[in-house]
Amino acid sequence: MMFGNWANDNMGTSCGVLRILILSLVLNLISGVIFNGTVAKAQSAQLAGFPKAPETVEYHPTTGSRVKLGQLLFYDKILSGNRNIACATCHHHNQASADGLSLPVGEGGVGVGPKRTVGAGIHLIEQRVPRNSPALFNLGAKEFTTLFTDGRVSLDPTDGTGFNTPAEEDLPPGLETVMAAQALFPVTSAVEMAGEFGENDVANAANRGVEYVWPLLAKRLRGIAEYITLFRKAFPDIKTPSEITMVHAANALAEFQMSEWRSDQSPFDHFLRGDKEALTAGEKRGLDLFYGDAGCSQCHSGVFQTDHKFYAIVMPQIGFPLTRRFDPVVRDRGRLNETDQRADQYRFRTPSLRNVTETAPYGHSGAFRTLEAVVRHHLDPVKSYENYDRGQVILPPHPRLDQLDFMAMDNHREAKSLINANELTVRLLSDAQIDDLLRFLKTLTDKKSLMGKLGIPRSVPSGLKVD
Ligand code: HEC
Ligand code: HEC
Repeated sequence: MMFGNWANDNMGTSCGVLRILILSLVLNLISGVIFNGTVAKAQSAQLAGFPKAPETVEYHPTTGSRVKLGQLLFYDKILSGNRNIACATCHHHNQASADGLSLPVGEGGVGVGPKRTVGAGIHLIEQRVPRNSPALFNLGAKEFTTLFTDGRVSLDPTDGTGFNTPAEEDLPPGLETVMAAQALFPVTSAVEMAGEFGENDVANAANRGVEYVWPLLAKRLRGIAEYITLFRKAFPDIKTPSEITMVHAANALAEFQMSEWRSDQSPFDHFLRGDKEALTAGEKRGLDLFYGDAGCSQCHSGVFQTDHKFYAIVMPQIGFPLTRRFDPVVRDRGRLNETDQRADQYRFRTPSLRNVTETAPYGHSGAFRTLEAVVRHHLDPVKSYENYDRGQVILPPHPRLDQLDFMAMDNHREAKSLINANELTVRLLSDAQIDDLLRFLKTLTDKKSLMGKLGIPRSVPSGLKVD
């Protein structure tokens, strides 16, 4: 049954264009119904998706002792198999909670930010991480119930574990939020944190199954006196050190991130709170475009400029894309990887645009180096894809992987398939209008939030070096 869906993978371009037209029509209808109740209203509604005041946002509560513990864990390389990489390596305070690279360099690499290198000798990385490292702003808001660009970790009350995750029923109980569930996974990934099979006990466990990794890491934490004290303070249910688990660590990591990177004091927030002087005339023109003729808020809606849904917008595929098992073609089909639905192929989650001036490069593969480039891509995605300048990627050089970084783009059948899935309509905007749009996007930056609340810890309980 399932394979029948793949039969017409390479339908002709003309058919694709028709599909796009119909799709965008359907999309317009759907968004009209959701935002305004009636389709007729949507046609006149200039400001579809315009947010309410930030005060209406509901956040998960956090407590100081857990946040503090989470900060240390976030920067402690003890959670990686070879003790050489921390969460912060890819989500660093100095890089607005991301890493400044198109695609991250996982364990084995050296340094942080755009200067990070791929390592050398036996530590030379085997592959690049297949997707761009996202910024982590406002993930403590309860509306973020689906994480990752393909949504493979989400809140799911219908599941026995409370979540839909790659671990399925092996997910341990006691995780308090979807952020906590997410925190269990980077440590199990060979390329991100665990290391290659044969290199260490954690990597070997990961090879058997993710559920074997967590007890090993908890044991490492229990072996450090300072962590025992901090865990007991943060979680009164822990009576003896033997009761410390990776679930406690995940809950603390989640609370740290949720508290650390809250960002709702940008000029745009002040504008939403009623300060009409918070934006300049040019920024207001950009705002009108964003919520009007440029159609951005069709998907980038709400306080955080995301509807939390998935769309195919012809993002160039670079690196070695996240290819699903048994797919004979190297490609990242996004949401389809999770749902198995043909309609979801190449769809990725609408990202929040908070602090977007600080989170380059852009897109799920980090293909676009500048904000202007990714905005222009939206206006005519197919043409942008066809004229894509490969020189803009930020990928630390690697003796072997460099030759493979554009293999998906060089596959013409695959490129056609990606283009056929496009759901964005072409928009004709003048250069001046694009400048205004960029001016508006700049008002989403909350300078003070960039360095977080606690910032980078000076040292961590394991004594390992903090980058
Ligand atoms: C090697 C780089 C790397 C490391 C180390 C890393 N991450 Fe990430 N992180 C990523 C990438 C890449 C993604 C996006 C993957 C995707 O969407 O498929 C991501 C996604 C996330 C997200 C989801 C954000 C969203 O909006 O969907 C959270 C939260 C997160 N990471 C937290 C963590 C935590 C906590 C740790 C440590 C336990 C960690 N990361 C370690 C690279 C990394
Ligand atoms: C049909 C839905 C849709 C519309 C309309 C849309 N976007 Fe997007 N946008 C997305 C999706 C989905 C992504 C991520 C795609 C990916 O990574 O493959 C994205 C990515 C972006 C990014 C990159 C953010 C990052 O952190 O990587 C920016 C900036 C952006 N959009 C701005 C805009 C602007 C400005 C407009 C209006 C001109 C617009 N978008 C219209 C869905 C949309």
